[in-house]
Amino acid sequence: MAYRILITAGPTREYIDPVRFITNRSSGRMGAALAAAARDVGLETVLVCGPVSIELPSGIEIIRVETAAEMASAVHRWAPESDLVIMAAAVADYRPVATLDHKMKKLPGKLVLELERTEDILGTLGSCRRPGQTLVGFAAETENLLTNAAGKLERKHLDWIAANLVADGFGSDTDTIELLGRGGEHFTLGPAPKSEVAAQLLSIVLGKKAEAKVI
Ligand code: CTP
Repeated sequence: MAYRILITAGPTREYIDPVRFITNRSSGRMGAALAAAARDVGLETVLVCGPVSIELPSGIEIIRVETAAEMASAVHRWAPESDLVIMAAAVADYRPVATLDHKMKKLPGKLVLELERTEDILGTLGSCRRPGQTLVGFAAETENLLTNAAGKLERKHLDWIAANLVADGFGSDTDTIELLGRGGEHFTLGPAPKSEVAAQLLSIVLGKKAEAKVI
């Protein structure tokens, strides 16, 4: 059987009303670069992608989603049959408690928006993964890069975590990633174009596993 990889990319949008939403600055470029790299080494590749304006790789299965809830259901649909899952998406941690049916009208004074947690998709995958499945998370941080990333690796029961400083990452064409493994491995990838960093990251997390299955 072919080696299957599921990658997520881009931001999510959490709607306040039909015309307003909460989102973040993720461009989707790293997820797209990982999907292209996976395709190039012959893996069966599924990309679950939030709203992005970049061109996505051809020759792969693409599922477009908007909200964290839509991303969660697409991931849960594809993850059980994936050997490797890389969550490069910047999934919103919170969404408005209610989405209004009509455009909100302004009123005098302040507005307080009530938010609730979204599902931690990667956390769910880490707590009920199938044997042999490899899980990779991303940690975009503005401070304490390695400590925060190591915490996520542990908390979400991951095999690898790819950590990058937001100052270098969002919107930029080059990247530097600190890749930490569950076994204490630590690789520094880049600074290099995202396509190169993605190919290096993929080859490390695949190790020898894919070769055996692809052929
Ligand atoms: N992630 C996810 N579902 C979410 C939020 C994040 O699957 N609702 C994934 C991201 O795709 C990324 C990893 O989890 O691979 C890190 O996300 P982050 O939000 O930074 O992790 P947290 O543990 O929530 O840490 P914190 O908010 O404290 O930075």
